[in-house]
Amino acid sequence: MSASSSDISADAAWPAEATRRMNRMYRRQRHIYDGTRRYYLLGRDQLIDALKPAAGATVLEIGCGTGRNLVLAARQHPDARFFGIDVSTEMLTSAISAIARRGMTGRIRVAHADGTAFDPQLLFGIPCFDQVMISYSLSMIPDWRRVLEVASSRLKPGGRLHIVDFGNQERLPGLARALLLRWLAMFDVTPRDELEPVLSAIANASGADLKFERPFRGYAQYAVLTFAPEPELP
Ligand SMILES: C[S@@+](CC[C@H](N)C(=O)[O-])C[C@H]1O[C@@H](n2cnc3c(N)ncnc32)[C@H](O)[C@@H]1O
Repeated sequence: MSASSSDISADAAWPAEATRRMNRMYRRQRHIYDGTRRYYLLGRDQLIDALKPAAGATVLEIGCGTGRNLVLAARQHPDARFFGIDVSTEMLTSAISAIARRGMTGRIRVAHADGTAFDPQLLFGIPCFDQVMISYSLSMIPDWRRVLEVASSRLKPGGRLHIVDFGNQERLPGLARALLLRWLAMFDVTPRDELEPVLSAIANASGADLKFERPFRGYAQYAVLTFAPEPELP
């Protein structure tokens, strides 16, 4: 596992402000995070089911938090290797102990990095991944569009980007929707209403295939972007 001080100091663009902001949010929350979020971060297990990585494949989670998704995915897909980055060193502390407790340090590595600018070669010694997952993190990252660009550029040809996050709750009753959005704002969460058009633009520009759903009456949005495989040699 990484997340060592050498990872941190090696990157000149170390994201001090984002780290301070997320550490403030999660310093105490991380201790009750997994127990409470299981009731409202819907769709995470469907995303993990859908990974279905080939043997030896590499999967990165951007904004891995407490490591909950990485641990479940590694258990469910025992032939793949998993990696996680998070800007919060508090969350990474929880992730590192969760991974160690389950005896998974050989299969899951995590490191401190910002989803808007990271170098997997520097962090993990590999240039790109077979799959990238982003679960309920884009709604907390101001420059979420940049995260999508960076994630796409860190995928191998034929790679897949999986996303689950809050939707705009359009099919919930008006009062429930207003209360929910106000409550999410208290946690610095902004549903990304433009997620579908932004992903469509990436798909159109790169020849990728986009699957997009709004499950749970629009409570969540779920997307899988599958990039074109490398063209075969003539
Ligand atoms: C709501 S939590 C989701 C955690 C996990 N993905 C899950 O599904 O349980 C959002 C995570 O995104 C992380 N995060 C926020 N801004 C980030 C950034 N710029 N780069 C990487 N991670 C970031 C936070 O520290 C936090 O761990």
